[in-house]
Amino acid sequence: MQETKKVGYAVLGLGVGKSHARAVLSSKNGKLVAVCDLLEEKLEKAKEDYGDILTYTDFELMLKNPDIEIISNCLPSAMHADFTVRALEAGKHVLVEKPVDITVQAAEKIEAARKKTGLKVGVIHQNRFNACMTPVKEAIDSGKLGKLILGTFAVKWYRTQEYYDNGGWRGTWDMDGGGSLMNQAIHTVDLMQWLMGDVESVTSHMGVFAHDIETEDMTASLIKFKNGSSATFVSTTCAYPGISTDVQVYGSKGSIEVNEDKLKLWAFLDEDEEESKKMLDKYGAGNGSLTSLDPGLVVGHATQVHDIIDAVLFDKEPLITPNDAIKSVAIANAIYDSARSGKTIYFE
Ligand SMILES: NC(=O)c1ccc[n+]([C@@H]2O[C@H](COP(=O)([O-])OP(=O)(O)OC[C@H]3O[C@@H](n4cnc5c(N)ncnc54)[C@H](O)[C@@H]3O)[C@@H](O)[C@H]2O)c1
Repeated sequence: MQETKKVGYAVLGLGVGKSHARAVLSSKNGKLVAVCDLLEEKLEKAKEDYGDILTYTDFELMLKNPDIEIISNCLPSAMHADFTVRALEAGKHVLVEKPVDITVQAAEKIEAARKKTGLKVGVIHQNRFNACMTPVKEAIDSGKLGKLILGTFAVKWYRTQEYYDNGGWRGTWDMDGGGSLMNQAIHTVDLMQWLMGDVESVTSHMGVFAHDIETEDMTASLIKFKNGSSATFVSTTCAYPGISTDVQVYGSKGSIEVNEDKLKLWAFLDEDEEESKKMLDKYGAGNGSLTSLDPGLVVGHATQVHDIIDAVLFDKEPLITPNDAIKSVAIANAIYDSARSGKTIYFE
């Protein structure tokens, strides 16, 4: 039988990029060809960890390597659009970390370059691929949960001052685009809009309480959706020692509660207790822990790294596209606008 050709892959930025590299190494159809970082010691470590790979400090030089077909862009958030567009213009497909960039305008540049080049662009929002999220999404979209009434979303994490000081870009408006909301809770903003639907308006507060940073370490919002339902959304990096992420959705026919990646409640008016128990047995243990004290530990990157490789190989759309990922960036920025102005921000 003829073997499928392996797709050449490179990783740009070796913070969370290390998870991308490991995911490429674990893939059937991808080959880790190179990594790129400004820091020589990270490149040396990558050679030790990943074996026979090329290392670059110069991104433009890496773009000239014809063996590289896909690049994971794991640079600080405000560098996503610039480097993704440059990669696309050099003929490379891109998997870009969340948030797709820190403004809608920057994210739109990625979308425009994607359309112009016809290449693939995926965006990481790995929590959509936690095991329990598939039945949760299906229960909402199929109408099993009934009419959506309320969502409660809470990201209660902890980050030290050292975390913010490391790298110099975290907790800054121009490079991180925000704090607990744009960086940590953007995953849950994405889940909220994916599950509950298009946002009509946001009314928010924010503040900085326990860190020496210019952005925020707490946001609290009331969200109204176009379908008439509402949600509360809170984010913080002050909740010592790092507590949890809650995704809770209540409809006219039942209730679903998820904590981190674990299904905690599955209760439907028209379903017997046995059925609920079966669901909790299947999805209650989650798929691995998201440890808020360890920002390097992430779950689910493998799904999306393997997906972009297959998207290139078999000419498919990646699971999450820039147009889809723009939505959470728009909501996060509306939350900031509301908190700054003291006004409710309406979406068109
Ligand atoms: N999906 C997740 O769970 C997850 C987790 C952490 C971070 N992230 C996202 O990943 C991105 C990176 O975050 P991080 O925590 O890994 O940051 P980091 O600061 O730890 O790593 C970024 C790396 O990029 C390198 N770099 C900077 N400029 C460069 C350049 N011009 N050329 C080559 N290398 C360069 C830095 O030297 C550094 O090693 C952010 O957008 C963040 O939001 C996502």
